[in-house]
Amino acid sequence: MRKLIGIFCLLIALFGCQLNQEKMSELVNDVHSFSKPAQVRVTHLNWQAKVDFKTKTIQAQADWQILYSKGDTLILDTKGLNIKEVKVDGKQPAFTLGNEDPILGQALHIPVNADSKIVRIIYTTSPTAEALQWLSAQQTADKQQPFLFTQSQAILARSWLPCQDSPGVRFTYEADVKVPAALMALMSASNPQQKSETGEYHFEMKQAIPSYLFALSVGDFAFKPISERSGIYAEPSVLDTAVWEFADLEKMIAGAESLYGAYAWERYDVLVLPPSFPFGGMENPRLTFATPTILAGDRSLTSLIAHELAHSWSGNLVTNATWSDFWLNEGFTVYFEHRIMEKLYGKDYSEMLAALSYADLQATITELTNSGMAEDTKLKLNLVNRNPDDGVTDIAYNKGYFFLRSIEEQFGREKFDVFLNDYFKDQAFKVMTTEAFIPYIRNYYQSKFKISLTDELFDKWIFTVGLPEDCPKPQSLAFEKVDQALNSWLTTNELPSKTTQEWTTHEWLHFLNNLPAGLSEEQMVRLDQLGKFTESDNAEILCAWLVQAVRYNYKPAYVKLESFLVNTGRRKFLSPIYQELLKTADGKQRAQAIYEKARPNYHFVATNTFDAMLKK
Ligand code: BES
Ligand code: ZN
Repeated sequence: MRKLIGIFCLLIALFGCQLNQEKMSELVNDVHSFSKPAQVRVTHLNWQAKVDFKTKTIQAQADWQILYSKGDTLILDTKGLNIKEVKVDGKQPAFTLGNEDPILGQALHIPVNADSKIVRIIYTTSPTAEALQWLSAQQTADKQQPFLFTQSQAILARSWLPCQDSPGVRFTYEADVKVPAALMALMSASNPQQKSETGEYHFEMKQAIPSYLFALSVGDFAFKPISERSGIYAEPSVLDTAVWEFADLEKMIAGAESLYGAYAWERYDVLVLPPSFPFGGMENPRLTFATPTILAGDRSLTSLIAHELAHSWSGNLVTNATWSDFWLNEGFTVYFEHRIMEKLYGKDYSEMLAALSYADLQATITELTNSGMAEDTKLKLNLVNRNPDDGVTDIAYNKGYFFLRSIEEQFGREKFDVFLNDYFKDQAFKVMTTEAFIPYIRNYYQSKFKISLTDELFDKWIFTVGLPEDCPKPQSLAFEKVDQALNSWLTTNELPSKTTQEWTTHEWLHFLNNLPAGLSEEQMVRLDQLGKFTESDNAEILCAWLVQAVRYNYKPAYVKLESFLVNTGRRKFLSPIYQELLKTADGKQRAQAIYEKARPNYHFVATNTFDAMLKK
């Protein structure tokens, strides 16, 4: 009898939970979208598009299939779109565009009724559409053909697709895209491996995605496989280098699957973009977009691919409900990334990554706290009336990572892995809020392991500024040796090449990031002789070095500094260098002069940051 009552209670609990979840995913209020998906919601897109490099526009027709319409208006997010025509099941309704908000754009209101099936929007994108970066042939590696790529995360999809631009609204899609015949088009969907003769490409995406993962790139691409289900796209001159660099791609996918369950998206390919790509990588489903700055020539920066691959679970399967819950995407992904790297290359390796994450996190907390932004050191963010881009800091990534690692360490890795496997399975193709995650993991640990997770645990990590005192501290043996070498350099001015010849990117980064303050010109010269930093082609090392070069006025690096800032668009590298330049009046002038030259090479995401930072 007791058993029966137990089962009955469990059923009620499960049913209640189910109801809650369904309600929840509909009721979540996303302050970064005008759409009201609880009223009317779309479910499938048929996108017909022509990509025109001459006018830097996409002419398109979007047919949205309606899932349900409980209200009388379908609201789509748009930004800078030129809407030519709207039809609902063939008839032209009186649609309206709302007031323009500088961050959110404009709401497109389309009258519908309970029987409405297909809403068609015919439109053209603006030449300054924020998601799109149009590159001239000169700005590519091969300098033969122009290039286009999109970056939709967080809320830029609306600048090239009228859509319910909120991570909680998933849709499947098919697309027909026409591009100049010399070019290939790729999307976050089924992709060609060869150019078509006509420049016409057909795409299908049958796994539902949120709009921030809607992606397109057009360029002179060639393809080479790594395994049956994975491969690399790049411009012809970059392809072999990239294939060599990412040789372990299949091992990464298999490793990820062995950790947290089957890969849900069929193929996993990587597209190497030109250096103006504003991010390191973007987890567009089936086709990660990657910066060429990870082609270090020694495979030392491939954890970035592990990161984007990990998003195939954390983020793309279980998706943050709003941008205030961004840590649910990125914190889980950094955790997963480190586990993949540990699995492939061992604990010593992954502890170096973790130690670098820890140092970055400390620096970010200090910086945010000192600049009056301490609130942004909480995992749960308040982004009301703000650009979601403000939430893209090390907090989501690394404080998120250390929170999960602390649960792992406190209650055991085996349990945490069981939990994560079930989390990705149960919550696949759904959204998660921070507020729903807490009871979810609590109930799980309670019922499965009889472990009570305390309020205090969640409070101190999620809703409190700074870092809890018991934050796990990575132990990297390799870095301890670097510390020794650094200490002996301070007294001897020497770094034995026997020691440093074994160092890879990570050791050098640790070394550069831990240089003492107040270096003399003589010390800078000597360091450069020992580490050959100024001539380095490794973007991570170069960036860390250039920050020091600016700080100590090391003139031999100035030419390289300028060419690096002009030719690289990855915000993570540009920010610390420009910030360092801004600390002196002379530096500020140089920064502004360089920025004027560099700006045409940057994506909107970067110019949006640096216009504010470098305004005259
Ligand atoms: N999804 C992010 C990039 C992103 C975040 C774009 C927020 C727009 C808004 C991607 O997965 C990422 O985290 N990239 C990192 C990689 C790194 C942490 C390994 C980057 O670009 O540096
Ligand atoms: Zn990420």
